[in-house]
Amino acid sequence: MGRLRLGILASGRGSNLQALIDACADPAFPAEIALVLSNRPGAQAIARAQAVGLGTGIVPHEAFADRESHERAIDAALAGAGVELTCLAGYMRLLTPWFVERWRDRLLNIHPSLLPAFKGLDTHARALAAGVRFHGCTVHFVRPEMDEGPILAQAAVPVVPGDDAERLAARVLAAEHRIYPLAVRLIAEGRARVAGERVAIEAPAPAPEGLLNPAA
Ligand code: GRF
Repeated sequence: MGRLRLGILASGRGSNLQALIDACADPAFPAEIALVLSNRPGAQAIARAQAVGLGTGIVPHEAFADRESHERAIDAALAGAGVELTCLAGYMRLLTPWFVERWRDRLLNIHPSLLPAFKGLDTHARALAAGVRFHGCTVHFVRPEMDEGPILAQAAVPVVPGDDAERLAARVLAAEHRIYPLAVRLIAEGRARVAGERVAIEAPAPAPEGLLNPAA
């Protein structure tokens, strides 16, 4: 069977894109990146993709009359590249219900919190302000409401004394780079599917139980 063809939408730094590029560099990884699209011409994500010879496209939102026409251009580019699964990787535009429904159960997002806690922006500062002992990140299928949708994978990281938002963000980002390829792999191997707005995972390897913070 061929590798699952990924489309990546990214607006900025592109470190999650890089994690997917690195995962796909392994011939045994069951997915490949067919196209990287950005709404921002200067996005570092585009430079990362070009550096390894991936197909890229810039679809600046300012060039379109409304959100849906912008997304129709994105959709056409994804379809033209034969994309089967689209991954949002720091794509800083809200998507319309039209696009989300068109890509229903074929569209993933990564969010820097343990959803459903801390939807939206500034998640690390808000987690610190709330005094949680664990924070983390989530890969989920996209639904029209922001940061909603069936949860595919999560990674928890401890909040430790002396953390500020920047240090915590770096710890979460390292976890993001591990779970996004894991989530894509689960889909590409046909081991994860949406059923009744939950994700059913075949033969999951569960996390160890009883993660405590503080540990003693
Ligand atoms: C990540 O923290 C991701 O969770 C959020 O946006 C950030 C993108 O970072 N959706 P990068 O562009 O992948 O480095």
